[in-house]
Amino acid sequence: MLARNILVSTLLASLIGFTGVVSAQIKLIKTTDGSEFTIPADGLKGTPAEAEFFKTGKNIYIGDAKAIAYGKKRFGLWSCTQCHGPTAGGQVGPGLLGPTFRYPKDATNKGMFETVWAGSNGGMGGKGLGIMSADDGMNADELLQTIAWIRAQSTTGVTGNEGL
Ligand code: HEC
Repeated sequence: MLARNILVSTLLASLIGFTGVVSAQIKLIKTTDGSEFTIPADGLKGTPAEAEFFKTGKNIYIGDAKAIAYGKKRFGLWSCTQCHGPTAGGQVGPGLLGPTFRYPKDATNKGMFETVWAGSNGGMGGKGLGIMSADDGMNADELLQTIAWIRAQSTTGVTGNEGL
């Protein structure tokens, strides 16, 4: 009887846990006005990294050498370099390495994703696909890899996944 009770409660717990995971989705909030936004279908590549990010806000490309190398190329390709410098340490635009940020939420990967995708009020337009023009901009997976490169430049140890 006791064994059966334990079995039932374990099953219940895993069911509840399962539902919790499935329904948990992060809400993306614009840095400009605090409104919610979503990613258009063509802004998604369909990778496991995107799935994890939209579920938990965690960027699994952090520390991934291949993703970091790819992100470095993207950082140059989208002219982030022009404003933020070749090592993201700052040029015309601010440094992106922390530990403090203009927008404190940019210490998290979710916050930085929101700022880069949908833009800020103080001089940076959104870079997300569909924001600049239908065939330009970055998809979510590319932005996650670009953020992984930015975090890899930091000597302060900020990974953006803290607490996740
Ligand atoms: C035309 C110049 C320009 C380009 C190109 C540009 N940025 Fe920016 N960026 C800025 C400026 C200026 C700010 C400060 C905006 C503000 O204070 O609202 C900024 C802010 C940011 C922030 C917020 C920093 C903080 O301290 O909170 C991040 C992150 C960022 N940029 C990443 C990028 C990435 C990644 C790219 C390339 C996809 C990029 N930027 C391209 C000019 C630029």
